[in-house]
Amino acid sequence: MSEGAQTEQAAALVTGAAQGIGLGIATALAQAGFRVLLSDVAGALAETEAATLRAAGHNVLAATLDVTDPDSWSHAVAIVQERFGRLDVLVNNAGISPRGTAESTDLALWDLTLAINLKGAWLGVRAALPLLKAARGVILNIGSTRASRQMPGLFSYGVSKAGLLGMTQQLAVEYLHDGVRSNMIAPGWVDTANERKLQARHGRPDFPAGVSNLTTPEQVGAAAVYLASPAARVINGVVLYLDSGLHAADDAGMVFFPDRAGLPFPQRIEEA
Ligand SMILES: NC(=O)c1ccc[n+]([C@@H]2O[C@H](COP(=O)([O-])OP(=O)(O)OC[C@H]3O[C@@H](n4cnc5c(N)ncnc54)[C@H](O)[C@@H]3O)[C@@H](O)[C@H]2O)c1
Repeated sequence: MSEGAQTEQAAALVTGAAQGIGLGIATALAQAGFRVLLSDVAGALAETEAATLRAAGHNVLAATLDVTDPDSWSHAVAIVQERFGRLDVLVNNAGISPRGTAESTDLALWDLTLAINLKGAWLGVRAALPLLKAARGVILNIGSTRASRQMPGLFSYGVSKAGLLGMTQQLAVEYLHDGVRSNMIAPGWVDTANERKLQARHGRPDFPAGVSNLTTPEQVGAAAVYLASPAARVINGVVLYLDSGLHAADDAGMVFFPDRAGLPFPQRIEEA
């Protein structure tokens, strides 16, 4: 058991945990000694992954949770209360990343992106705060470098992640005196099964050569374990970038695809 876990087994709830980054975070927390509720709108898939983790000796459960639905949140938090009796870590990871500019994004897409990526996190915080306050726990919002470095064609996504950054900092200040911390993990491009499917749809067997900010779900999980640990007790209201320095670049497009440095900006980043 790592220092991430307390003496009595601490507990975590991870959204969007059936696959990808959420599963990486849930796995890392379980390996660090946390009891974990793997929640996802795809509840059956979450249960399959939870069964695999239980077979490996971890104390995890699964639940169906649609983060856009307050009743669904009440149900998930009630499971945590009943089965774990405490909640130390809430990970708002569920998210979608649709394409679209300010003009091509329609109302339905805007509402869906903001409902999942932004409102969903708030609903989770609201439902979980009584337990988080009791445990002096931590909120981890999974953002993106797109929270603060924008890319053409990711309009509703970029806006939602920028909003999530604002929420992260608002919560950090609002609940400081309750001992509840709130931080954001902002990964670069993460190698997940769904991202690989996206690459395949573009006819590519792998990620484009030269991408400098490729990250793994395991690396995101390790960051979550650290931010949830007593070692991070004074870390509040920050963004932890996992992007090999991309966010710090003056010309992020060049850093992202160094082989396209001679091209005008839009072409440089068009395939991202
Ligand atoms: N993959 C990347 O390159 C990358 C980079 C930066 C940030 N992120 C962020 O990381 C998070 C996870 O991304 P991922 O790549 O693992 O995605 P993914 O598509 O592999 O997994 C997302 C999970 O969220 C679930 N989900 C979708 N809508 C939901 C809802 N309404 N309620 C509950 N669960 C829901 C899906 O069922 C799925 O299991 C997202 O917030 C995403 O914006 C991803």
